[in-house]
Amino acid sequence: MRVLLVCLAGLLVCLKTAEPHSLPQKDYDTDSSKHDITDPLNDTSGNNSSSVPDNTTEIFDSKTTILILRYLTRGDKKEYKGIYAHKNGKVKKILAGGRAVSDWFSKSRAYLGHKDGIYVYDTETEKLEKYGNLSDSVIGILKENRTDDLYILTEDHVVYKVIEEGTKKIKVNEAEHAEQIALDWDDNLYYIGANNQPYVVTSDGAKKIEGLPANPTSASFSRAPITTEHRSWFMSGKQPYIIYPNATSEPYVFNDQEKLEYEKRIRALQLIFLQLRNQAEE
Ligand SMILES: *[C@@H]1O[C@H](CO)[C@@H](O)[C@H](O)[C@H]1NC(C)=O
Ligand SMILES: *[C@@H]1O[C@H](CO)[C@@H](O)[C@H](O)[C@H]1NC(C)=O
Ligand SMILES: *[C@@H]1O[C@H](CO)[C@@H](O)[C@H](O)[C@H]1NC(C)=O
Ligand SMILES: *[C@@H]1O[C@H](CO)[C@@H](O)[C@H](O)[C@H]1NC(C)=O
Ligand SMILES: *[C@@H]1O[C@H](CO)[C@@H](O)[C@H](O)[C@H]1NC(C)=O
Ligand SMILES: *[C@@H]1O[C@H](CO)[C@@H](O)[C@H](O)[C@H]1NC(C)=O
Ligand SMILES: *[C@@H]1O[C@H](CO)[C@@H](O)[C@H](O)[C@H]1NC(C)=O
Repeated sequence: MRVLLVCLAGLLVCLKTAEPHSLPQKDYDTDSSKHDITDPLNDTSGNNSSSVPDNTTEIFDSKTTILILRYLTRGDKKEYKGIYAHKNGKVKKILAGGRAVSDWFSKSRAYLGHKDGIYVYDTETEKLEKYGNLSDSVIGILKENRTDDLYILTEDHVVYKVIEEGTKKIKVNEAEHAEQIALDWDDNLYYIGANNQPYVVTSDGAKKIEGLPANPTSASFSRAPITTEHRSWFMSGKQPYIIYPNATSEPYVFNDQEKLEYEKRIRALQLIFLQLRNQAEE
């Protein structure tokens, strides 16, 4: 059977040092005619790209686990294919039908969203367990930096804070019809609404982030690839922005070093995706 469109999202890179490294989170579209991992940076390197090693070992050491969420899109609908772990050169499916992955691991624990609630995956022991007793269909999941509390986005676009080890959830009333959620390192909560615009949740309600294009073709969040506090990272179309909890924003321009690092990482991930895709099609 020919797979029309495969999207890989929720790119997660975890270094053993627990130093957070993540890429702007985005969808990776591939199909059998093209292998097009769209790059949010304008690729001006042109013919220089072949200088990037075709080799992941320099970028991801054997202790690094990368979790990949794989799904197919059919029109507006996503068909979730599973969450895979890449470690030590091998790709392994860890949760069939998985729908979300937390983008930050603490103590080697990654939280995974599923149709029937939350799972926790230990990247060291490679054990998967159900977390808590909630049964929501989770399409977005985040862990706070300072606590063990989580935020989840459910399939019906409601955001909850999950406390007491996954046994209790509190609705975040401020976040209306969220499409995606994000936290910054200070645990400020952001969400993208139905209009592709980001909001920050503050003690006096949700505030729309100002200074962004009105009608972007796409919008997504990520933890910043550079360590940032008091701010988060947002992609409007292909342009990265830094967004602040005071509801302001500014476009971000990568310096040459960041750009090079980023391209190297993308290249390495492309290889992993190819490996995953080949394996998944077998
Ligand atoms: C990226 O490249 C496209 C054309 O390939 C151009 O229209 C767009 O303005 C560029 N964006 C930036 C931020 O350079
Ligand atoms: C890349 O190389 C080709 C020929 O090898 C050349 O025609 C093209 O202009 C180059 N592009 C850039 C961006 O340097
Ligand atoms: C790569 O790009 C730099 C400028 O970005 C240029 O000076 C250099 O000649 C290019 N190298 C090749 C092999 O195209
Ligand atoms: C990948 O790069 C590393 C470090 O440069 C090298 O030791 C290794 O042999 C390379 N592997 C392949 C398959 O090219
Ligand atoms: C995360 O939480 C720790 C512990 O409270 C704090 O020291 C740190 O500044 C926070 N931010 C980052 C980027 O780790
Ligand atoms: C989950 O467990 C907690 C504590 O054991 C209990 O209070 C709660 O009712 C349970 N929730 C569900 C949805 O089963
Ligand atoms: C919002 O926060 C940013 C970063 O802390 C700061 O540079 C900016 O001046 C603030 N803007 C307003 C209007 O307070």
